[in-house]
Amino acid sequence: MPDTLCTSGSNKPPAETRYVILISGSGSNLQAFIDCVQRGALSGQIAAVVSNRADAGGLQRASAANIASEVLDHRAFPSREEFDAQLTQVIDRYQPDLVILAGFMRILTPAFVNHYQGRLMNVHPSLLPNYPGLNTHQRAIEAGDSHGGATVHFVTEQLDGGPPIIQASVAIVREDSPATLAARTLQCEHIIYPMAAQWFAEGRLQLDNQCAVLDKQTLPVNGYQYPA
Ligand code: GRF
Repeated sequence: MPDTLCTSGSNKPPAETRYVILISGSGSNLQAFIDCVQRGALSGQIAAVVSNRADAGGLQRASAANIASEVLDHRAFPSREEFDAQLTQVIDRYQPDLVILAGFMRILTPAFVNHYQGRLMNVHPSLLPNYPGLNTHQRAIEAGDSHGGATVHFVTEQLDGGPPIIQASVAIVREDSPATLAARTLQCEHIIYPMAAQWFAEGRLQLDNQCAVLDKQTLPVNGYQYPA
C-alpha cells in the first residue's frame, strides 16, 4: 500500500523519523533540534545524543529534554577505526534514520562514513567549499571576505567536502572578531540545520550519486541559499 504521508522518496512517515545527534561541546545546534521538535517544526524524535566527551555541555541539554544520552570517550580506544566501530554500534542501537553531526569534533573513518552514507549530515561554519577545517571565521576575516556563513552538507569521505544541502551567508562587518562572527553564524546554523533535517524527514531530500537532491532536483553546487 503506498505511503500517502510522504511527499516522495521515503517509505516512512515523517513523524517516525529517528535522529541520533553526535556532539562534543556546548550543543547549541542540538538545542535547536530539541526546540524544533518540541514546537512541531521538525517531525520525528531525537532517539539519542552521543558525545565523545563526558564534559560536553550538550549532555545537560539532552538530560533536560529527557533524551537518552551516551558518552563514548575516544581516548579509551587504541585507534580511530576501533573508536568508530564502537561508535557505530552505539548509534545503531537507536536505529536512526538520520545521524546529525552537531559540533562532533572528530575526523571520521571511511568505514563510518560509508556505513551512514546518505543519512549523515554535518554543519560547517563557512560557505563551503571555502574554508574547510578549523578557524573558519578567523580565516574569512583575515582574507577580507565580505561574507562568512554556514553550510549543512551530506557527509562523504572528504573532510567537509560532501555535497552542500543548504547555506546561509552572514555579512562580515569591520568590527567583527572571530567570536562575534561565530555567534551570528551559529544563529543561522540553528535555522538551516533543522530545515535540512525536516526535508529529509519528509522524504524530499536525498543523497543521489554524490549529489544532494531536493524535490527531485539536484541542488546547486553550494546548496539551497537561505533565505531564498
Ligand atoms: C558550530 O560552529 C558548528 O558549525 C561546528 O561546531 C560548532 C558546534 O556548536 N561544526 P554547538 O556545539 O552546536 O553549539
